[in-house]
Amino acid sequence: MGWLGLRSRLHDGLTSFEPVPTQVTDFKSVTEHVEKVETIDHISASPPFAYTLQDPSVPDDALPFIPPAIVRNQRLCLSLANGLAWIVVDNIVYDCTKFIKEHPGGDTVIRSFIGEDCSWQFWRFHSKTIMEKWGRYLRVGRTEGIVNRFKEPPRYFGSRNR
Ligand code: HEM
Repeated sequence: MGWLGLRSRLHDGLTSFEPVPTQVTDFKSVTEHVEKVETIDHISASPPFAYTLQDPSVPDDALPFIPPAIVRNQRLCLSLANGLAWIVVDNIVYDCTKFIKEHPGGDTVIRSFIGEDCSWQFWRFHSKTIMEKWGRYLRVGRTEGIVNRFKEPPRYFGSRNR
């Protein structure tokens, strides 16, 4: 019962996420990202991309650092149909480009956060065990300064399972 109640609240929360189109029509963010692209030459080196999936044995803090502008740029690349489905959880960058089609929670939720932080949303739906079992194989690097678009709503009951 508690879990059902929690699930219900979580799904209510999820429906408040902004839907993100597969073709970007959010011109405000596109403009913002274009400005960033112009100042960082090596972004245009993708694809092929310099950052690849890391071995699961590599500790998080030993992952290659990926500048936040490159991470955010994936959102713009998405609109050009050559982007990667990178998302950020706790400053770790996960490449969900292939996994997105197999994600048990569907592709839309991951697509909604490409190039963005989705830490609190992720932890509402997944345990640390799931991250270790699935996410660990999707790591491409670590980053910093990627903000979550959404303020985390208060949790009324239950505890974090991370
Ligand atoms: C590293 C990226 C991700 C991985 C490896 C991952 C993995 C998984 C796995 C293994 C499940 C099945 C869990 C189960 O059967 O108990 C799942 C379900 C789910 N995931 Fe993810 N996920 C990722 C990203 C996300 C993101 C960014 C969101 C949304 C914020 C999300 C939302 C969900 C939802 C809503 C479900 C269904 C939960 C349910 O029905 O109880 N996932 N994910």
